[in-house]
Amino acid sequence: MISRSTIDRIFQAILIEDVVGEFVHLKKSGSSYRGLSPFVNEKTPSFFVVPAKGIYKDFSSGKGGNAIDFLMQHEKLTYPEALRWLANRYNIEIEEESQTEEQKAEKSEREQLSVVTDYANKYFQDQMYNSEMGRAIGLSYFEARGFREDTLKKFQLGYCPDGWDKMSQAALSAGHSLTYLLKTGLTREKDGSPYDFFRGRVMFPIHNVSGKVIAFGGRTLKAEKDIAKYFNSPESDLYHKSNTLYGLHLAKNAMVKEDNCFLVEGYTDVIALHQAGVENVVASSGTSLTEGQIRLIRRFTQNITILYDGDKAGIKASFRGIDMILKEGMNVRVSSFPDGDDPDSYSRKHSSEEIQLYVKENAKDFIRYKTALLLEEVGNDPIKKAGLIRGIVDSIALIPDAIKRSVFVQDCSQIMGIGESVLFLELNKSLQENLKKGPGKPVSSEEGGVHTTVEAPTPFDETIPIPDALNAEAQERDFLRILLMYGEYEMPIEIVNEEGKREVIHLSVADYLIGNLEHDFMTLQSEVYSKMLKEYLELVKDNQMPSHHNFTSHEEESVRSEAVNVLTTRHQISENWKTKHGILTESEEYVIGKAAKDCLFRMKMRHVQIAARAIESQLEGESNEDEVMILLAEKKRLDEVRKQLADNFGTVVL
Ligand code: CTP
Ligand code: MN
Repeated sequence: MISRSTIDRIFQAILIEDVVGEFVHLKKSGSSYRGLSPFVNEKTPSFFVVPAKGIYKDFSSGKGGNAIDFLMQHEKLTYPEALRWLANRYNIEIEEESQTEEQKAEKSEREQLSVVTDYANKYFQDQMYNSEMGRAIGLSYFEARGFREDTLKKFQLGYCPDGWDKMSQAALSAGHSLTYLLKTGLTREKDGSPYDFFRGRVMFPIHNVSGKVIAFGGRTLKAEKDIAKYFNSPESDLYHKSNTLYGLHLAKNAMVKEDNCFLVEGYTDVIALHQAGVENVVASSGTSLTEGQIRLIRRFTQNITILYDGDKAGIKASFRGIDMILKEGMNVRVSSFPDGDDPDSYSRKHSSEEIQLYVKENAKDFIRYKTALLLEEVGNDPIKKAGLIRGIVDSIALIPDAIKRSVFVQDCSQIMGIGESVLFLELNKSLQENLKKGPGKPVSSEEGGVHTTVEAPTPFDETIPIPDALNAEAQERDFLRILLMYGEYEMPIEIVNEEGKREVIHLSVADYLIGNLEHDFMTLQSEVYSKMLKEYLELVKDNQMPSHHNFTSHEEESVRSEAVNVLTTRHQISENWKTKHGILTESEEYVIGKAAKDCLFRMKMRHVQIAARAIESQLEGESNEDEVMILLAEKKRLDEVRKQLADNFGTVVL
């Protein structure tokens, strides 16, 4: 914890034009400054800094705020990280408050590891440029691969001399302790004598998101088959492989600007693409893609394009990657390169524009990619073809968002020439399967980096699936999203009329959602979402049709940014629908109606579940027999509601 007085001192010291000026070229214009937006690509400056108010405003992206907001948005720092950045910038010593001994110890452990790692990073670079062996072996290797000097410097590439313990001895005589050298894996011991783990290798430092060195990859220069091409630092308090992406610190701004992240296999792919001018690229080097890595990307963009080697292993890895990305709710495309090129070799021969264009034209969405690859194998064999379709539908079923799922079903139907209804049936089967497997899966908080793992509660009837059991925030975001985007659309619902007959009526999505919420006495938990809902209802009461403008230009920052959050992902779909058709086709009605229904189902399920859990804990402490009977009866009633909900879920609207 940073102390209050430190925070005050930081705020007093801030000059917003200085802070923003580190990242944006600003020109004075009257009493403010003006520059090109760092958040979008633009030719005329629409980004302003107003020193007197201590704020900035970007009219292109709508972003704005104080210096801390800027660091949080532009550098993707957390609040405390932004404070530390500023303290460092203004030479303010940070007083820490109320840290436990344990926290202190852990922190100093990480700091010690970081000091040693930093030392090694400088040492490897120094060796490469200033020692004879370094120049003759390391530098000339990189030069032979066509890496320019500015590229080598950008990635801080280096060389670990080919002695036995040269680096370790240098570190020890510079006063570093053997303990931490060993913990970073830079030094190892044999018969009590230390030696260099990476000796004789060219060194690729691995950085965290803020650009601090946390680990290394070292490539051998020997051709022998039995030597591992790469050595990588072991896991430590400083380096967690599964939450690290190679090149992310250099890619993050470009990822935001391009709104896309290229995912490649190796260090050299990242470097070669940078050298060619393509910067929105990272590698999951050394591990197969992890959930943590995908969530890291999600801090900057929702879109990932996998650039892979067209070999068997590459294809297999890409399939796994696709499913993981879909499961995280992100968009994935895939592109390979022609004539056996990989990103590394292709980018040596082409300019940044050519590469971007090639990827743009060749990247396929996952359905087209999988279909194209598998259709070759399948040929005309109907059984194999059914298997292929099931495989694709299984991938679609991983997508958390109902609207997106339905759009992909329509795509799949067209590509494979199969009726949508058949595919929806398959999809529902697959969804049910997933739900059964579902409970216990970690629920992530959307906000970058920090993943709270919430344990799903023990269901009291194991056969009933619990979707997204506790993810209230995601459910409520979905609710608001559907309300704001599709509130005025009509959806069909089946009701039982006065004569006891089934009948289909049309209701607006807004009426359906709000009506259900009120009918079941459900409220939204999130402060900002319930505020948005309240204002929505007030507008309706005033006979105004609420539109997202009411929220995106709201006076409160939290509402504005949530509105943007809620609206951006679906933007494309809705625009397409509105302009292409003017009115909704039947299947689009179906899609929106289904999304609204699914969303309510999840919320109801959660409410029932919370109520049931409250009863269970009451039951534990209850000894009065009458009370127990009442509680048991109530529990049974809730069980039934759950069953009903579960039965209805997955059935179609019509
Ligand atoms: N890798 C690894 N250990 C190995 C081989 C590979 O950790 N024994 C990781 C490295 O992160 C590497 C990535 O997998 O960057 C891709 O492997 P590969 O394509 O073999 O390496 P490149 O980076 O392409 O290296 P080069 O072009 O120098 O062969
Ligand atoms: Mn490679």
